[in-house]
Amino acid sequence: MLEYIYRRRSIRKFHADRPVEPEKVTELLRAAMAAPSANNRQGWRFIVVDDRETLDKLAEHYPNADMLFTATLCIVPVADMETFYYQQDLAAATQNLLLAAPELGLGTCWCGMKPERQEWAHEFFEVPEGWWVFALIAVGYPAEEKPANTWYKEENVFRGRWGARREA
Ligand SMILES: Cc1cc2nc3c(=O)[nH]c(=O)nc-3n(C[C@H](O)[C@H](O)[C@H](O)COP(=O)(O)O)c2cc1C
Repeated sequence: MLEYIYRRRSIRKFHADRPVEPEKVTELLRAAMAAPSANNRQGWRFIVVDDRETLDKLAEHYPNADMLFTATLCIVPVADMETFYYQQDLAAATQNLLLAAPELGLGTCWCGMKPERQEWAHEFFEVPEGWWVFALIAVGYPAEEKPANTWYKEENVFRGRWGARREA
């Protein structure tokens, strides 16, 4: 039943000649905006990048996001820093989008945006003061297959207090 959660994997190779249909882009954004946010502030905006030239520029500038050379779409969530829980809110929205993608036949990779890399992104996307470029999400039709996620570790779970093991 929860297969869609385990099927989500980071995809780093895409079919560069297969753009994501506009209806699917909207579905991804609808999924992102369905996320919970503290006090329902929805302090997010999403920049949709779907032209080859811009995707290539981003891939060149951000080596951690070099899968954008083949991705046909990049969604850039941007956070309103006046919202107290903006990091959590944006993470929830990003994860929603990631989980929706395989249902639409799409692959994704969440690429982190380090604080020292903010300035360049701010200028590039013309983001106003007070907003935080949260991540670059590479999206496209996957050109690699990965097995479902199996990261479950019982040793990461405690019962009642730190360090106490749970009965199986
Ligand atoms: C906050 C965050 C930042 C990440 N940044 C990058 C990144 O910059 N480049 C990248 O290729 N993957 C990035 N990833 C993806 C992780 O490497 C990946 O989720 C992890 O290795 C587990 O693999 P899986 O997503 O296939 O389950 C990031 C994931 C998270 C949650």
